[in-house]
Amino acid sequence: MTAEHPWSGPASRPDGWWRSAVVYQIYPRSFQDSDGDGVGDIPGITSRLDYLAELGVDVIWLSPVYRSPQVDNGYDISDYLDIDPLFGSLDHLDELITEAHARGLKLMMDLVVNHTSDQHLWFIASRNPDSFKRDWYFWRRARPGHEPGTSGAEPDDRPAAFAPSAWTYDPATREYYLGIFSPGQPDLNWENPEVRQAIYEMMRWWVARGVDGFRMDVINLISKPGELTSGAPIQDPPACRQIATGPRLHEFLAEMNREVGLDEQNLITVGEMPGSTLEVAQRVTDPARHELNMVFTFEHVELDNTSASKWDLAELSLPTLKDNLAHWQYGLADAGWNSLYLDNHDQPRAVSRFGDDSPEHRVNSAKTLATVLHLHKGTPFVYQGEEFGMTNAPLTEIGHYLDVESLNYHALAVAGGTAEEQVLRSLARKGRDHARTPVQWDDSRHAGFTAGTPWMPVNPNYSEINADAARRDPRSVFAHFQQLIRLRHTNEVVQEGRFELLLRNHEQIWAFTRTLGDQTLLVVANCSSIPAEIPLASLPDLDGAELMLGTHAPANASVLGPWESRVLLQTAH
Ligand code: NOJ
Repeated sequence: MTAEHPWSGPASRPDGWWRSAVVYQIYPRSFQDSDGDGVGDIPGITSRLDYLAELGVDVIWLSPVYRSPQVDNGYDISDYLDIDPLFGSLDHLDELITEAHARGLKLMMDLVVNHTSDQHLWFIASRNPDSFKRDWYFWRRARPGHEPGTSGAEPDDRPAAFAPSAWTYDPATREYYLGIFSPGQPDLNWENPEVRQAIYEMMRWWVARGVDGFRMDVINLISKPGELTSGAPIQDPPACRQIATGPRLHEFLAEMNREVGLDEQNLITVGEMPGSTLEVAQRVTDPARHELNMVFTFEHVELDNTSASKWDLAELSLPTLKDNLAHWQYGLADAGWNSLYLDNHDQPRAVSRFGDDSPEHRVNSAKTLATVLHLHKGTPFVYQGEEFGMTNAPLTEIGHYLDVESLNYHALAVAGGTAEEQVLRSLARKGRDHARTPVQWDDSRHAGFTAGTPWMPVNPNYSEINADAARRDPRSVFAHFQQLIRLRHTNEVVQEGRFELLLRNHEQIWAFTRTLGDQTLLVVANCSSIPAEIPLASLPDLDGAELMLGTHAPANASVLGPWESRVLLQTAH
């Protein structure tokens, strides 16, 4: 257990501390290997804490390191109270907490409680129809009139996210269980109060161990719609996404907050909420309701799909993207709080997706995207490697993909008659694998990630793009992130200023102001690879404003170079 230092425990978490914090996400398997087995681990993370302190972030979000069969790289937990030997031990985790706290860094654990692994003892007990744990998961009989176990006999037609059906047949009991991600990830039944109490107890155990909060995986799926909770045969199966935000979501979140003491101890709480609307987020993050501090919306990362399927590619225009972020800024301006992200372990690399990762524009587009994101109001999230502009990898054939989602999509789409070429095009644009290539630390073999064979090949551009090179270059993406993080810490307008979108329909320029008291901060960013004339007449007159940060030495007051951005601050006199 970590001892109570002034830099850990509730005393280190004053009210609202997370409103001026920047979070850094670590996907442990790809961060840093310490023992040569080719998989990143906890001692590897501890060895890189000085790097994170140098970057200046406040909180580490640790993707799952719990015991797991790794069907979904740890998002399938078989023991919430232990660490998978792949990543180390509880002692290693305690050491990480202590060493992080000693550097003023906080630790936010990933909490995956919509589902467990099918290897979790709770689920193993639940396989027995006589066990009181039977009801801890969703077991259902076959569709009326169908022979259990035969094709089409599943209780409904819902597909799983990573498998053809959300229902898995158990021949021993001739019933099916629900796993809306995959058969290895059965959904917990939150209607059962014993399930909820077991989860709260586990969360209290982690808080006592010294963690500073939780990022909650697909937390809006914990309350299931009536057709699943009633136990009656399911009529008219709804689409997968509609399983979100069931009728008891707010009740469960408020209960969790109370029972674990989340707000009482000022723990940071971030709910991942695919498919949730602004209205849901307003309720969840309204401090008066004591649910969560902030949510991850998916709206802005689904604008480049033509349908609910992320694989149906659409071109994204700048006005569409900035409008969506503005919608959330306005919607959470008075109560509630935004999380700000472009990158994470489930998304392709932001610089390749929203920027221009060509050698000519990679650095400036990574900087400008970061400028725009970090100067919105909310808590910014940096995903490992984003801080020095890591790009998508050259994944061109199905053999290059390892992720369960990519492999399932490929198999189903090809079997369904979609041309292989088209499937590979979608995977190359949207596959989660891009985010999971090892962190490129330096230009040595395997980019300094491992002394062994990496579990996933390193992006071949590592000799150019790596943390070491970026740290040594004062004009690097890394240096720019340091400045943005410093601004977030030191400037109240960045923290709390009111947001206003300007030039809403401009196809190249993303411009907005943030205002607090007599100070106005103006961000103008050219989000394109050609120069952009600044429509000065349509912007506030910031005569005498101070240039706080820029990607280029400004050559021309009225023209922005490709991917050039400027941040100006004016104080009214
Ligand atoms: C969301 C996580 O971010 C993703 O990686 C995972 O596959 C699903 N939830 C299921 O846990």
